[in-house]
Amino acid sequence: MSQRDQDTITEAVLASFAQTPDARLRTIMSSLVQHLHAFAKDVQLTEAEWFHAIDFLTRCGHITDDKRQEFILLSDVLGLSMLTVALNNDKPEGCTESTVFGPFHVEGAPHYAAGEDLANGAKGTPCLVRGQVRGVGGEAIAGAVMDVWQSDAEGLYDVQRADLTQAQARGVVTTDNQGRFGFRSIVAVPYPIPHDGPVGEMLAATKRHPWRPAHLHFKIQAPGYETLITHVFNRQSDYLSSDAVFGVRPSLVCDWVEQADGSYLLEYDFVLNPLAA
Ligand code: BEZ
Ligand code: FE
Repeated sequence: MSQRDQDTITEAVLASFAQTPDARLRTIMSSLVQHLHAFAKDVQLTEAEWFHAIDFLTRCGHITDDKRQEFILLSDVLGLSMLTVALNNDKPEGCTESTVFGPFHVEGAPHYAAGEDLANGAKGTPCLVRGQVRGVGGEAIAGAVMDVWQSDAEGLYDVQRADLTQAQARGVVTTDNQGRFGFRSIVAVPYPIPHDGPVGEMLAATKRHPWRPAHLHFKIQAPGYETLITHVFNRQSDYLSSDAVFGVRPSLVCDWVEQADGSYLLEYDFVLNPLAA
């Protein structure tokens, strides 16, 4: 039996994973241990700080349920979600860039025909959204299925309203035979991510705000193409330079143009990457 101290413990833990049959799991566990130990040494972690971190993670677990996922929120505010998106979505020049999925997507949202209003009663300034879905070779993509979701004028998604039974400001639209889409909705506004839990405490303790700039979410699927998960951000919005979850990419920032009747028009084209042969 050998003595374990700060100079030998890392090697001992690494050796304990040496027989891991799955090579990828071995790589991940070894790298995680190396970085965790280096971090603890770097900050000279105290026992009180270690306990505080365990308590923080425990409280993240306790507040998590089927509607609230504090660990994803933690990953989001630490930039890990966006880093993972960036690492895994390196696309050819001209493709629409991806960004974070977020926690407010709902499978099975109602389908809408071209021109219909997916606000479905949500409060907000009316807005027409239209554009085209193309492949990176310029070809129109007919029948692309687009999931759209957004917050209302009070910065809340329908799923955050306990009193709502129907979908609001979310829906599924399909492109026509020229790859075109168009739907009515409302103007998105900035909103704070949920900040009444441990992640919110961390933001407050580090003098960070919880706000996201105004955006529409899109998930676009078409046979033969990579699924695109992205947002379109409003160029006039606050927080474009300080998104709480680091999701803004300049290519996704667009103008919402005010019309004579006070409504808005958003025109944006999406370009999908073909699946590798
Ligand atoms: C969202 O845009 O819906 C979102 C993303 C990350 C955390 C919270 C909300
Ligand atoms: Fe959002």
